[in-house]
Amino acid sequence: MQTEVVILAAGQGSRMKSSLPKVLHCVAGTPMLGHVIRTSRHIGAIKTHVVIGHGADLVKAQIPDEVCWALQDKQLGTGHAVAQTLSNLSDESRVLILYGDVPLIKESTLLNLLEHVNDSVISLLTVKLQDPSGYGRIIRDENGYVKAIVEQKDANPDQLRVNEINTGIMAVPAKKLKEWLPKLSNKNAQGEYYLTDIIAMAADQNVEIAVAHPTCEQEVQGVNNRVQLAELERWYQLRIAEELMSRGATLADPNRIDVRGNLQVGQDVTIDVGCIFEGDVILGENVSIGPYCVIRNSNIGSNSTIDANTLIDETLIGSNCNVGPFARLRPGTKLSDSAKVGNFVETKKAIVGRGSKINHLSYIGDTSLGENVNIGAGTITCNYDGVNKFKTTIGDNVFVGSNSALVAPVTIDSGATIGAGSTITKDVEKEQLAIARAKQRSIDGWNRPKKKE
Ligand code: UD1
Ligand code: CA
Repeated sequence: MQTEVVILAAGQGSRMKSSLPKVLHCVAGTPMLGHVIRTSRHIGAIKTHVVIGHGADLVKAQIPDEVCWALQDKQLGTGHAVAQTLSNLSDESRVLILYGDVPLIKESTLLNLLEHVNDSVISLLTVKLQDPSGYGRIIRDENGYVKAIVEQKDANPDQLRVNEINTGIMAVPAKKLKEWLPKLSNKNAQGEYYLTDIIAMAADQNVEIAVAHPTCEQEVQGVNNRVQLAELERWYQLRIAEELMSRGATLADPNRIDVRGNLQVGQDVTIDVGCIFEGDVILGENVSIGPYCVIRNSNIGSNSTIDANTLIDETLIGSNCNVGPFARLRPGTKLSDSAKVGNFVETKKAIVGRGSKINHLSYIGDTSLGENVNIGAGTITCNYDGVNKFKTTIGDNVFVGSNSALVAPVTIDSGATIGAGSTITKDVEKEQLAIARAKQRSIDGWNRPKKKE
């Protein structure tokens, strides 16, 4: 049976104390709603409906995924929220109801929940909690069959003692939703149209109510405030850390790594504390990442070492390279094998040939460098005239002396040498030595200026 997903995301989330709608707050760098939409896609839903209300325009603007938006103007309850999608649901579908503020629900749990559902069976995801307060309670008959869900505020003392609770996640054939939701009433303690009231309707009609459970509480944990958001973030990050270790990475401290995207690691990668990985990052075998590095959308080849406090963004690094400490590799940087970029070096759109070195205090931008080039400390490619950007081209085996300014557009052909402190404004040919600086004068008996009385 085909599956459509309905994600409820219309609530305000006032306890977040935020101008951002709650479901746009991020876990691992992705909005909570984005996690749920991705999960919906992964379980093969043919359509994902998202019910929005508070901050609807912001939510639509910031979620790029193809979904079917449904607007719930006033938040009259979870049943009313699901009802906003009824006209768009196919009679052939079973409908899985998820929540934009319950971000970490697992695919395997949902597939297990859906397995039971067909035209005449609905399925509920429940969990037993030490402290069930606040949640809807699962009420069973004398034979153990589910017969209703009672909300905390409507429950009698006996019902309040039940510790099996409604996670809110359920799967119901679309036809049944179309039959039951219009019959909901709001005559209850909160004056809301409760989705949960359809359970008693199902029981009345002897529709089978199957029950499934998550593998852990965090999967069904909702986020109401920033403390809960931070708790889920740490829990999720620790799961990612464990996954990395199972693939052969050594983490100096699994509690001090943050992955906000997809990190692929080869065997024997080591990652020191405090590193952040964003977007798609691939680390080859034996790569070593020092402490406090930030690496975004980049590939690092095997046996390369990235030293402490290095920032790497949209960069390709070959094998056996050495980068950092304190280097900043900006988008469009490409290091061939065995290249070195040292401390306080910034690169941008820099193609660096095999074995070339930029070891200290340099800015290399819009530049291509051949093989075995040595860029002396403090070299600057002057790529910008205030309006336009220009390219610097440096051939193989070039030696650039310290504190040189290479004013682009300029080409320094292979084997050339630039004297330290030069400002190079014209092309330098093969094997030439170019020096462009004032000649040194040494004046005897120089009288230094004296303080005026
Ligand atoms: C709901 C369940 C309760 C369950 C609990 C699990 C109902 C009546 N109760 O209670 O049994 O134990 O979740 O967390 O379903 N929402 C809308 N539109 C609305 C109302 C809610 O989109 O009109 C969204 C909210 O943004 C929220 C979610 O639905 O993400 C749950 O709503 P909330 O009012 O918090 O339900 P609970 O009272 O927690
Ligand atoms: Ca409520």
